[in-house]
Amino acid sequence: MSGAPGRAAPGLFITLEGGDGSGKTTQAELLEQWLTERGRVVVRTREPGGTAAGVEIREIVLHHRGDIAPRAEALLYAADRAHHVATVVRPALARGEVVLQDRYIDSSVAYQGAGRVLDPDEIRNLSLWAAEGLLPDVTILLDLDESAARARLDASRTRYDRLEAERSDFHARVRAAYLALAEAEPERILVVDAARPVDEIAGEIRSRLEGRV
Ligand code: TYD
Repeated sequence: MSGAPGRAAPGLFITLEGGDGSGKTTQAELLEQWLTERGRVVVRTREPGGTAAGVEIREIVLHHRGDIAPRAEALLYAADRAHHVATVVRPALARGEVVLQDRYIDSSVAYQGAGRVLDPDEIRNLSLWAAEGLLPDVTILLDLDESAARARLDASRTRYDRLEAERSDFHARVRAAYLALAEAEPERILVVDAARPVDEIAGEIRSRLEGRV
């Protein structure tokens, strides 16, 4: 691995973020197609659940019946991340590939930090420790208001997972935290209005990435 532990070089590390129902999966598919057409090797992955151990952690954190204490939840996401970064993300970046990842550290800051009302700085530091400082090169934030996101989820789900089932004030805090993160790091985080048609959103994402792939 070249460079300092926090550096993503020589590959490109792209993360997709946003609330539940913001359309990340659709955009990830389109972006993967575009990157592949441009000759890049793409590793499409996600958190939680981007490794075999992570699939088991995902099952606990999303589907455990009964309470999980907020700090335990934060540690489960961090454990998933530590293993995923060490065994999937860093090796792919070291091979010069594009890692296209559904959710990363910003999810923890938004959901556990703001949603669960833990300290966002502590959550960020926990995540950075887990990931040995690895930050994305580019983050696409699909921004959608709570009621539109809920309507999309209702149309596509027969049951909600633990996080999706949280009340609307939880999801409002998550959205506000994401927007605050984007304001603090405008170079890294591109905010995209996810209420628009799929093709328009995909076009905006591509034009932002044009110079980097
Ligand atoms: P996701 O895979 O996007 O859900 P789905 O496959 O149902 O679209 O994310 C799973 C949930 O985990 C989502 O509600 C956000 C939450 N999450 C956190 O709370 N913290 C985290 O660090 C991550 C990565 C996800």
